[in-house]
Amino acid sequence: MAKLYINEKNKKAHIEPEIYGHFSEHLGRCIYEGLYVGENSDIPNVNGMRKDVVGALKEMQIPVLRWPGGCFADEYHWKDGIGPKETRKKMINTHWGGVVEDNSFGTHEFFELCEQLGCKTYVNGNVGSGSVQEMSEWVEYATFEGVSPMADLRKANGHEEPWKIDYFGVGNENWGCGGNMTPEYYGNLYRRYQTYIRQYRKDAPIKKICCGANVADYFWTENVLKTCTAAPQPGGGSNPGFMDGLSLHYYVHPGGWQNKGSATDFDDKIWYQTLSRATYMEELIERHGAIMDQYDPEKKIGMMVDEWGCWFDVEPGTNPGFLYQQSTMRDALVAGITLNIFNKHSDRVKMACIAQMVNVLQAVILTEGPKMILTPTYHVFHMYKYHQDADLVESFVEGNKTIGEEDEFQVPQISESVSVSADGTVNITINNLSVTENVPVEVSFAELLPSRVEAAILTGKMCAHNTFDEPENVKESVFNDFETKDGKLSFTAPACSVISFRVN
Ligand code: AHR
Repeated sequence: MAKLYINEKNKKAHIEPEIYGHFSEHLGRCIYEGLYVGENSDIPNVNGMRKDVVGALKEMQIPVLRWPGGCFADEYHWKDGIGPKETRKKMINTHWGGVVEDNSFGTHEFFELCEQLGCKTYVNGNVGSGSVQEMSEWVEYATFEGVSPMADLRKANGHEEPWKIDYFGVGNENWGCGGNMTPEYYGNLYRRYQTYIRQYRKDAPIKKICCGANVADYFWTENVLKTCTAAPQPGGGSNPGFMDGLSLHYYVHPGGWQNKGSATDFDDKIWYQTLSRATYMEELIERHGAIMDQYDPEKKIGMMVDEWGCWFDVEPGTNPGFLYQQSTMRDALVAGITLNIFNKHSDRVKMACIAQMVNVLQAVILTEGPKMILTPTYHVFHMYKYHQDADLVESFVEGNKTIGEEDEFQVPQISESVSVSADGTVNITINNLSVTENVPVEVSFAELLPSRVEAAILTGKMCAHNTFDEPENVKESVFNDFETKDGKLSFTAPACSVISFRVN
């Protein structure tokens, strides 16, 4: 028996909704077909955006969307994607399959999509192959209300009112596809580019995000921060390092980058390897966080894990440059574990964007022409949505067994996190990482005597997934298999499961 102790009175940090964010890139069928089909499509749409996909994402409560990349961002020239669609420039998407990008989805379409989704906007600018002027003008085009060359152009293109940019990324992976820079060089460019991201809307300040490290590149974190905080800012240090956020990218590949393996065909050994690599996120957050603490002890800079998720081999027969993969119960557990880790570190982690939202890597939605399916990962985001904007509270598990097949890839059997919503509801999300063993769990609270409990479960065989022929193989169900007695909540968590409780 495992015992989960919750002190619902001890609030540790606020869980920003943006931790549950998503990422959409001009890559494969993410934007085109996955989100945008154009006004003239037979697929039901509103201003070109798929109704089915937008509806499902709203139901999942998507808080923020990052766009246009990814590696694509540092090759994207935003002016190619505005004005009449027939005259928009076509370009080669050199990173992703060498296909023609016709720019029919551009700035106006992105803001339209976010308006339909009711989510915040995260625009990623181009440092690798773009100029300071180009970046600065994009911000002016999108957010300036008055009379100016760029605001006038936006109005001429049919959008009178400025939009809100909630977050602006100054380059992407500038240590790699975004220009192969050294941290000092990028740090200096960051200082320069971010200067011209003007705050035109006093009612809606833009939060600036600096490109952070790949996985365990602590050298990058240290040296970018050192460069960006080297001289005091005019007006005092209210925004250390000229930034509101520093990104971190980490993908889970079971056998490493060279050996990603099949998304749907794997054994127990690979299951534990994958989950163990997912738990590594905690060490990354703690070690990068310790460096950030030296430069920003007050934790004003958020850690933005704006790319994370499972990256496997593409589905057989699909374009290798499109990164289209299936999503099984293994992905669900990776999502459950990772989101619990983000919650537990919400004092530093202020945003995270799973890669990517539709039809790419660990997508929450897959489409095939007019058909759409929800992946197991979708259901995890749906079950965890109550953590958004809640307060993380103290919790720990006694009797949490270590499981797995090999020493290197052992994991704790249970992953959990607990929050309290503004109305006092206690939200518990708990995962059983074992492929074979159920685990009895007893939950105790500091003061709460549970009177109303609602729960949902996602469970299935480790390789179980949804297909266009069988779209409901894996789906969230109501979970009633619990008992409340003497102020305690007891249940058995089935092997390979994600469970969420709402307790009053
Ligand atoms: O998500 C796919 C790619 O992974 C992104 O474009 C890039 O930023 C990362 O390397």
